[in-house]
Amino acid sequence: MEETIKNEVISMPRIGDKAPSFKANTTQGEINFPQDYSGNWVILFSHPADFTPVCTSEFMTFATMEKQFEEANCKLVGLSVDGLYSHIAWLRTIKEKIEYKGMKNVEVNFPLIEDITMNVAKKYGMIQPNEDSTKAVRAVFFIDPKGIIRTIIYYPLSLGRNFDELYRVLIALQTADEFNVATPADWRPGEDVIVPPAGSCGTAKDRMEGKEEMYCHDWFFCTKPIAKEKVMEKVLKQK
Ligand code: BEZ
Repeated sequence: MEETIKNEVISMPRIGDKAPSFKANTTQGEINFPQDYSGNWVILFSHPADFTPVCTSEFMTFATMEKQFEEANCKLVGLSVDGLYSHIAWLRTIKEKIEYKGMKNVEVNFPLIEDITMNVAKKYGMIQPNEDSTKAVRAVFFIDPKGIIRTIIYYPLSLGRNFDELYRVLIALQTADEFNVATPADWRPGEDVIVPPAGSCGTAKDRMEGKEEMYCHDWFFCTKPIAKEKVMEKVLKQK
């Protein structure tokens, strides 16, 4: 999808698209994206600027949860339109000086992309000029092991992300793939999942007559349990 804003073409990748590829310098060296992450889930996310308070609270939270994401076979990659030295200085400050909500000495070990040219930010629709033309919004791209974009969430500059929700999204996507199911509103591991809709009148009838192991609210809305342990076992086994 492309949108023209102030005479500039901004590309906006969509769910189901191949993740646009790029090479970039990061705080962990050069990366070739998404090829370097083939076989892993990856969350590519942007923040508006280094040395800003909301972003600092987000980085501390995400870095603290990195192991949890790693265990679910998911790598984290950050980006802002700042330069490498700014990134390095900011991450050093976070580790050495900032204490927030019980988090301190926080080391950010995932790569943070320098994108002064906005090359990557523009490819991913992270610059949204009517919000801010010189900073990336808080974008979150969930990319699967085949390099396909599976979920996109955008937040404005003023709103810090909920990282428990980002983890929930990751596990829900993996659960949908592993078990061929969908997940209902507010789903969390251990709660009932939704089975694919009946594809024939016969199946619809069977379901309503209780011939399949599921609970049907109506023929098109059937759920079944999957134990939390079973979900987490699959998710954690992927690595
Ligand atoms: C922040 O991270 O605190 C922030 C960054 C840009 C605009 C507003 C807030």
